[in-house]
This record gives sequence, structure tokens and C-alpha cells, in this order.
Amino acid sequence: MLYPRRNRGGRFSKKAAKASCASGEASVSSNRRASSSIRAISAAGSPFINRRVIASACGGFAVRAAALARAWASSWSAGTIALTSPDLIVPPAPPAPSPASLGWLRASVARFHSGAEHVRSRSVLTAALERADPDRLREVARRRTAELLDGATEVDLMAVAYAVPAAALAEVLGLGDPGGDVAVVARLYLTGPADGEAAVDEDAAVARLVDAAGGQVDEETAAVVALLVQAYGATAALIGNAFLGGGDVDRTVHDDPPTLATRRLATVDTSVDGIHIGAGEVVWVDLASADLTFGAGPHACPGADQAKAVARGVLDALAGATLAEDTVEYLPVRNVKAPTRLRVRLPHG
Ligand code: HEM
Repeated sequence: MLYPRRNRGGRFSKKAAKASCASGEASVSSNRRASSSIRAISAAGSPFINRRVIASACGGFAVRAAALARAWASSWSAGTIALTSPDLIVPPAPPAPSPASLGWLRASVARFHSGAEHVRSRSVLTAALERADPDRLREVARRRTAELLDGATEVDLMAVAYAVPAAALAEVLGLGDPGGDVAVVARLYLTGPADGEAAVDEDAAVARLVDAAGGQVDEETAAVVALLVQAYGATAALIGNAFLGGGDVDRTVHDDPPTLATRRLATVDTSVDGIHIGAGEVVWVDLASADLTFGAGPHACPGADQAKAVARGVLDALAGATLAEDTVEYLPVRNVKAPTRLRVRLPHG
């Protein structure tokens, strides 16, 4: 979908967003396999709700989203209740088919576990993350960005924003260079392959990332690889949105969040703020309207400080760069708001 460039007030035009719906529809529908029966939990009270409901319309569930949006008086409490309810879990990953594969990665990490098992595997993850000092990450991200930009006059900032975070994290965590493997794995990490869909490239990329992390096929390696993959899309989006917002990372987190929504599966019949959710139903929880950019509850992002540090490091190296295009196109997906590309002119070019 196509949105106009941010204006001084930092908002997008609703009219222009509406006009963009048709262009987003085809691509969004390719996402439906993972979400055809999913309905949206959205929320009222945010200046961004209109844009987001319009964006949802391209994916075919706007009417329900809008109705639910009206039903919830407090966006923050509804989102928080949904993310902390023991009745709503992250859709689990199936058991691992073979070691060092995409399935093994998903089955081994905190992201797709719940309850006591989640608490245990998350402690492995947070122990690994403690090795990623935010100040050092910022400096490594700045240096790596400067190296990528060296001699260039114009670049696609999003290409830089996708490349640097995982590489910087890998360096700080003492791993080998992940190259393009994180991007390959990230494509199917959150949803897993569809029924019958092969994941040959993803499996091979996971195996190489395991090697880059030392070669042990165990839970600690899975946690470290998962950190790189989790950092990939959301941090790139944060960098792109923060550049468009004048470089202020903290303000972007609240005013133009990259993470729009996340999924939860109801294990029993339950309700959130008076909205009934049937057992087995998967719902989208609206994060952006609820100002829950880094989530909430047991699965809340443990890498928020690292993510902001990497974003600041990349933007440090881009000081003085200016946007070289008039309109910004966004990925036609419902869970992340990320520019597809951002041509920028560099000051020394
Ligand atoms: C260095 C970069 C990052 C790392 C290492 C990282 C790591 C993680 C990990 C490991 C989880 C899963 C935690 C669990 O399930 O217990 C997670 C969840 C999450 N992250 Fe991050 N993340 C990064 C960047 C970001 C950014 C930039 C955003 C948004 C601006 C973000 C938003 C979220 C959200 C919303 C969740 C919760 C998802 C849910 O509850 O379903 N993360 N992150």
C-alpha cells in the first residue's frame, strides 16, 4: 500500500491511505493462508486507528476490526489483558522434525512456548542477550553502516536497515558473519511453512547459522540464532520509520511504531474486555493502537534496549542524509509497518 510522505505533523493522510487500498490488496491476500480464520482485536482511542483499520481493510477484516475497535474503551488495557491472559497463547510450533532446521529452531525457542516451558527457555534467551551491551551495539552498528555507505552518494536505506542489525548483533555476541541467512529464515520464522510447503532454503540457512554460532545443536544455540532472526524485520522497520520521523527513535516507538499486531490462540472459551473468543480461535492483538510497540506480558520483547541502540547506531552514520523520493511505499503486511525501500542522498556524496 502506498502512503504519502510524513508531513510536519508526523501523520499520514487518511484519504491517501484509503486510495492505496487496492494496491495493497493483492499482496496482502497472499498472506491469508496463515490468517484466513483470524479476526482482529483492535482498539479505540489512538490517532493511528483509522490508518490501521484502513490498512486492515486491504486484508479483508476491517468491518470486524472496526466493530471491535468501538467496543473497547481503553486500548492499552485491552491489549495488555490479551497479552497477559493465560487463556491466550502464542500459536505453538509443531515438534521438531530434524535438528538444525527451521522446525527445530521454532520448536526450541521461547517465542513459541507458553507457561513454565516458556519461562525456562526465555531465561536461556535473556542470558544470551546480556552479552549484547547496548552501547557497544550502537557503536558497532554505526561503524558497520559507515562501512556500507563508504563512497556512496545514494542508497536504499532499507537495504542497510535489514543488513546491519543482525550483523552487529552477531559481532557483539561473538558469532561468525550471518550473511543473508537471517533474511532467509525470517521469512517463515513467525508462521512456519504452510501445509506441504517446503522450507529447504530456510533449513539450510538455519544449519549455517548454527555453524556460525559454534555448531552445537542445542537450546543455547537456538536462542542465539533466534535473537538474530527476531531482530531482523522489526528493527529494520524501526530504523526506516525513525529516519522518516527525523531520527528520533524514542518518539518513533510511540508515534510511528513498526510492530502493528501479533497473534494469540485461545486455549479455552474466553473473553477480553467483554469480547468473546472461542477455544481454538486465533486473534490478532493490535499493538500499535495500544502503544505496546515492544509487546507486554510474558512474551514482551527482551531486546528493546538493544533494538533502539542498533537503530541509533545506524542513524548516527546517516546524519545529514536526506530522502530522495516523494512517496514512501510500505510492505503490504498486517503485522509490521516497514517502508519497502527508502532512497536517501548522503551528505558526502
Ligand atoms: C535487537 C533487536 C531485537 C531483539 C534481539 C528482539 C528479541 C525478541 C525476542 C527474543 C522476542 C520473543 C520473546 C518471548 O517470546 O519471550 C521478542 C518479542 C517481541 N519483540 Fe523483539 N526483538 C528485537 C527488536 C524488536 C523491535 C525493533 C520491536 C518493535 C519496535 C520488537 C517488538 C517485539 C514484540 C512486540 C514482541 C512480542 C511479540 C508477541 O508478544 O507476540 N522487537 N523480541
